[in-house]
Amino acid sequence: MRQIDVFISSRSFSEEDVRDNIVVVIDVLRACSSIHTALHNGCSGVIPVAENEDAGRYAGNLDSSSLLLCGEKNGRKVEGYHLGNSPLEYTPEIVKNKTIIMKTSNGTRAITRSHFAEKVLIASFLNVRAVAHYLKNVNDRNIILVCSGWFSRLSIEDMLCAGALTWNIFDQKLPDSATDGVKVAFGLYEKYKNSIAQVIKSSNHARRLAGLGFEKDIEYCSQQDLFETIPVLKEGMIILE
Ligand code: MLT
Repeated sequence: MRQIDVFISSRSFSEEDVRDNIVVVIDVLRACSSIHTALHNGCSGVIPVAENEDAGRYAGNLDSSSLLLCGEKNGRKVEGYHLGNSPLEYTPEIVKNKTIIMKTSNGTRAITRSHFAEKVLIASFLNVRAVAHYLKNVNDRNIILVCSGWFSRLSIEDMLCAGALTWNIFDQKLPDSATDGVKVAFGLYEKYKNSIAQVIKSSNHARRLAGLGFEKDIEYCSQQDLFETIPVLKEGMIILE
């Protein structure tokens, strides 16, 4: 029978932990929300990278007229990049038909570390229902929910999103066989499911972002089911399936 487990940060799992499994990378604030927004607004694909040097290397091999270098360091746009990591920057006027190379502190690292997985899905509250629906029909593979977190630390908004997925997959009833990670995520969501936006707003990373003037991003990323699509990683590029 398939197992479901939860990892708490992009640093908390090895590439072997996810090999041949279905991996869902969650970064509510903000990488997965930004990636999905960019794709929804017509960008051709997002190439996630773990390091700035990788971004430069990819950029050197692609047509610069249709390329956007995007990402953040400590929440702020990387100097010299076209865009930072605010989903509100990724408008159709700016991203349509562009290929994005993206480097963020934790989200894109979690995605690139998942490359041995059978399949990598990108999740946030913006598409939580669609991802849960997809996962409900996965029976032949283990499912790993990777919360991107903040370096080695847990981020409550990512764990809450993992909880929403488990809540839906298990039809609101925690099975006896649930792993510890699922029990924590499920229990967190059960407790806070009616106050998601408030929990996100008072999270460590939301406070950090608010300090940088990104209050609107927090509101935007707290929306549920804005999109019915699922971004997936295909040969190094994230596209809408
Ligand atoms: C990350 O990858 O850690 C986040 O997306 C950071 C951010 O909010 O810019």
